[in-house]
Amino acid sequence: MEVKDIHFKIAVYKSSDELEKFDGSLLASARDAIQFAYAPYSNFFVGAAALLANGKILTGTNQENASYPVGICAERVLLSAIASLYPGEPIQTMAITYSNSNGESNKPISPCGMCRQALVEHEHRTKMPFRIILSGMSGEVFVIENARKLLPLSFTANDMNT
Ligand code: THU
Repeated sequence: MEVKDIHFKIAVYKSSDELEKFDGSLLASARDAIQFAYAPYSNFFVGAAALLANGKILTGTNQENASYPVGICAERVLLSAIASLYPGEPIQTMAITYSNSNGESNKPISPCGMCRQALVEHEHRTKMPFRIILSGMSGEVFVIENARKLLPLSFTANDMNT
């Protein structure tokens, strides 16, 4: 028996002001997109923005529903938009942020499990890892090297070919 240690590093910035210019403006796009979130049930408004390899920036927001399970997270709205408008286009960086009407919005959130799986699928599909910027409306910002780090031992199409 051997024990494997799975770990990863996060770059922690004190605030978005410390980010490199392009990362700062991508995060600003995600924060700006929050206005289009539809979250009347949770009051938790999420915005995501992706810089694609072709230079385009697309955004997505969470879209809830009176039938709660029908709601969809900002990250998967964004991934679906990317795949529909620019099929197969790699993502260079994705920024994810939120505004919580019921509380503070001053520390990073990270994607739910279902979104992590969807993010990993995009990396797999395009054969290109992408950086992830996590933040709230203020406070610390985390930058993660790629989506796969967020889902160790992830299940991908490779597992079905063995
Ligand atoms: N949500 C996202 O859009 N992304 C996340 O990373 C976490 C959660 C949404 C789902 C739901 O509309 C609301 O936030 C509260 O869970």
